[in-house]
Amino acid sequence: MLTGGGDCPGLNAVVRAVAKSALKKGWEVIGFRDGYKGLIENKFTKLKDRDVSGIIVKGGTILGTSNKANPFKYSLEPFGSSKSPKDVSAKAIGNFHKNKLSALIVIGGDGTLILADRFHKKGLPIIGVPKTIDNDLSATDITFGFDSALRVATDAIDKLHTTAEAHHRIMIVETMGRYAGWIALRAGIAGGGDIILIPEVPYRNEDIVKAIKDRRKLGKNFSIVVVAEGAKPANGKMTVKKMVECSPDPVRLGGVSYKIADMLDKEIKLESRVVVLGHLQRGGGPTAFDRWLATGFGIKAVEMVENKKFGSMASFQKFQFTDAKIHEAVKKLKRVPPDCQEIKMAVNVGTSFGNTKITG
Ligand code: F6P
Repeated sequence: MLTGGGDCPGLNAVVRAVAKSALKKGWEVIGFRDGYKGLIENKFTKLKDRDVSGIIVKGGTILGTSNKANPFKYSLEPFGSSKSPKDVSAKAIGNFHKNKLSALIVIGGDGTLILADRFHKKGLPIIGVPKTIDNDLSATDITFGFDSALRVATDAIDKLHTTAEAHHRIMIVETMGRYAGWIALRAGIAGGGDIILIPEVPYRNEDIVKAIKDRRKLGKNFSIVVVAEGAKPANGKMTVKKMVECSPDPVRLGGVSYKIADMLDKEIKLESRVVVLGHLQRGGGPTAFDRWLATGFGIKAVEMVENKKFGSMASFQKFQFTDAKIHEAVKKLKRVPPDCQEIKMAVNVGTSFGNTKITG
C-alpha cells in the first residue's frame, strides 16, 4: 500500500486496518515510502503486526507521503527532474512486478486517486481508499480526515467567540477545503458562525456588511465570519497564495479573509481580526469517528483485494461500507449544492452566506 497527497488524520488507522486484516489472512504486506515516490524508487518497508500496533491514535502517516510525486510527470530526483518532468510510470509498474505484488492499495484524495486510475488502466490491480479533510470526493458520502478537521475548526470558532464578544470585534476565521466549502459550512454551523462564506455561493461585500449591521440592530456588537479558503466574490476570483508546480493540482489557495477584513475596515466601524487555521486542520490524531471510518475503509479495501474489485475504491454510503469505481469518485469534485438542506438549516438560525439571494 501507499499513502499519497496531503497528510490527514486517520491515515495510520487505515494502514493499521489494512495490515492487520491482510496479515490475518496470511498475506505479506509492504508499505511504500512517501507515496508514489517509494513505488518509483522501490523504497518500502515490510509491515508486521508490531509495526502497526498503537498507531490508530497517531496523526500523519508512518509511511510518509508526497503531493509532488506524480509518476506521469515526475520532477523529483534521482529519476525525475524539476526542469523537465518525465513519465516514469513504467518504472513504477516494473517495481510492482519485481516485488511480485498481487495488489496495490492507494490511500489518497483526488490527485492520488486520479493517478491510481491511470495505473489501473495500464493494468495494475489497484484498490483506492478515499482520504481528504476537504470531503470533496464523489462516490462516497464522507472521506476520513474531514471529521477531524471539523473538530479543529469548530474548536477554533468556539475560542474566537470569547474575544469577539469581549472586544466587540469581527473575528474572521479561514478554513481549508480547496474548491469545496464543506469544512467552513459544517464547522460554521457547529460553531454558530454568523456569516459563512463558501466557494459555491459567491459573496457580495454589501451583503456581508448588511448582515453585520443587522446583527448590530439586534444588539450584537460582534460577529464571527467563517470563510472557506476558496470563497470568492460574485464576478471575482479565488485568492491564490502560491503555485506548487508538479503537484497534481498546483494551485494553493489562501488569504481571502484578509481581503474581507480590509473591506470591513473601510465599511464598518468595528475592528476585525483574521485567523487562518491552515495545516492545524490536518494535524494531530483522528477523532473517534475518523478512527472508526478509517478502520472500516481499511478492512473493506482488503476484502476488495480478495474479491479482485480492482479499479474500485472503498466507499461509505448510507451508513454502509461498500465500493465504487475510482473513476466515478474523481470525475467530478463533490461541492456544496447551494440549495442543500444544510444551507437552509443555517439560514434558518440566522446565518448569512454573504449573499441575500440565499434565503433558506
Ligand atoms: O486537500 C487538502 C488540503 O489541506 C487543502 O484543504 C488545502 O488547500 C491544501 O491541501 C494545502 O496543500 P499543501 O499542504 O500543499 O499546502
